[in-house]
Amino acid sequence: MNQNPLSAPVVHETGRDGRRRLEVFASADLAAARGTELFLSAARRAISQGGRFTAALSGGDTPVPLFRRIAEAAPAWGIDWRKVHLFWADERCVPPDHAESNYRLANMLLLSRLPALGAVVHRIPGELPPEEAAELYEAELSAAFGGTPVFDLILLGLGTDGHTASLFPGFEPAGALGRTVVAAHPAGAKHPRVTLTLQVINSGRHVVFFVTGKDKADIIAEVLEGRDKVPYPASLVAPSEGTLTWLLDAEAARRLKTWKPGRPGF
Ligand code: 6PG
Repeated sequence: MNQNPLSAPVVHETGRDGRRRLEVFASADLAAARGTELFLSAARRAISQGGRFTAALSGGDTPVPLFRRIAEAAPAWGIDWRKVHLFWADERCVPPDHAESNYRLANMLLLSRLPALGAVVHRIPGELPPEEAAELYEAELSAAFGGTPVFDLILLGLGTDGHTASLFPGFEPAGALGRTVVAAHPAGAKHPRVTLTLQVINSGRHVVFFVTGKDKADIIAEVLEGRDKVPYPASLVAPSEGTLTWLLDAEAARRLKTWKPGRPGF
């Protein structure tokens, strides 16, 4: 266990068979550097093993430094971006040029900056009515995966209420049985949403939460250490066969009690 978070992450592996991993970094930028390495190495591995890389990007503002770094680092990794399929974990039901569009942010920071590439972009049509957008995106996933989607990598954020993607507290996992994409009308959200279902998220090969900032410290402690009677949506993310990695900066990790460098379990 590296005790010096300034020079390297404080890494903690645990879970039944070590498939859950918590990495804490001194800053959001160092966490973004690690996230970049995870993303690009997953891409390189998936393309060499299976001929393509499928990734679902998270929304919100947290991924800004991560998208920037991936775009900067990409050229040096020699990845054939024509074999990269980029999707979204969720989208707000707004046009793609709307300030709140998850696609717009990723396009501005990543897609438009990658070397002339040809990454295959599977945008959620947020400009359509939510249910229609969800059905179209579900059909696109089915066509892209030839059945149940199994993403190589799913990038997730965490809301202060414990939501992830657009699975907000009170959502009914059973309500989406058999679905891979659903429309969501969360009470606290400004716009209706379209989101991957928990079933799809938990089918991912590598699920990575990227969470930074002091405003997430309480919810991180709740999700990772809380005895929440009613689990938060993010607490339900437990890949059935894949790995789950939490990448945090020290600010987001500062309320963690049982997890401390060098102590087992989290
Ligand atoms: C969205 C996201 C959502 C996000 C969290 C955190 O569309 O809002 O997918 O799940 O990751 O709300 O958002 P911030 O990164 O802006 O705090």
